[in-house]
Amino acid sequence: MGAMLRNPKFWIFGICLLPLLRLIALGIGGGLGANPIEFITRSTGTWTLVGLLVTLSVTPLRRLTGRADLVRYRRMLGLFAFFYACLHFVIYIGLDQFFDPAAIARDIVKRPFITAGFTAFVLLIPLAATSTHGMMRRLGRRWQLLHRLIYLIALLGVIHYLWLVKKDLSEPLLYGGVLALLLAARLPWGVGLLQSIRTRFRVTNPGIGKAERAGKVR
Ligand code: HEM
Repeated sequence: MGAMLRNPKFWIFGICLLPLLRLIALGIGGGLGANPIEFITRSTGTWTLVGLLVTLSVTPLRRLTGRADLVRYRRMLGLFAFFYACLHFVIYIGLDQFFDPAAIARDIVKRPFITAGFTAFVLLIPLAATSTHGMMRRLGRRWQLLHRLIYLIALLGVIHYLWLVKKDLSEPLLYGGVLALLLAARLPWGVGLLQSIRTRFRVTNPGIGKAERAGKVR
């Protein structure tokens, strides 16, 4: 039990479950508002997008901190984004469209924001299916190429959000801004900037330097 509590994966798993537990608690307590379906659809959509952006922030954070072990948590974060995308999609097809294939197909073709969301969801499926270590080994270089789809998926997620809001674009633009920063951090100058911040921080922060010398920070 002690070892489990010391494992960051345990805490990350628990944190990732919080949005679902919150929805369940609100559902039981009658706190989902006048339109519960809309509330749940919006909440699971938001957490899908947040999950994608958090997953995309692992590599820049690794470069900024020099902590290569952060990559260990990326798969769990990505799978949670997929989990919330599945809930989002199932709520939509079940509670919004009453499992009517013709109505769903019509909606996907007619409403551009649904087209973008649906495309993002379909593209997420092969990433989730190949997220295991075995698939990573088997696919080799092709795994990396395939998993670059995450950039397009996140972009489609932002476009989906931009197209569905009618008036105030500030929230989707905020997500778009965060995505732009996370993508820029992968460009050569972005990588250079993160590394120079890291070096400067190491030099000017004696606390970190001491911990590093003691082998506590990588
Ligand atoms: C990676 C995939 C997806 C992401 C990141 C995503 C994200 C979002 C976000 C952020 C919202 C708005 C939340 C808010 O208003 O606070 C939303 C709403 C919504 N999404 Fe998605 N979504 C995805 C896939 C889908 C799919 C596959 C469908 C259906 C085919 C869908 C249907 C909807 C609907 C119906 C709404 C509510 C629109 C309204 O408020 O009228 N989404 N989604």
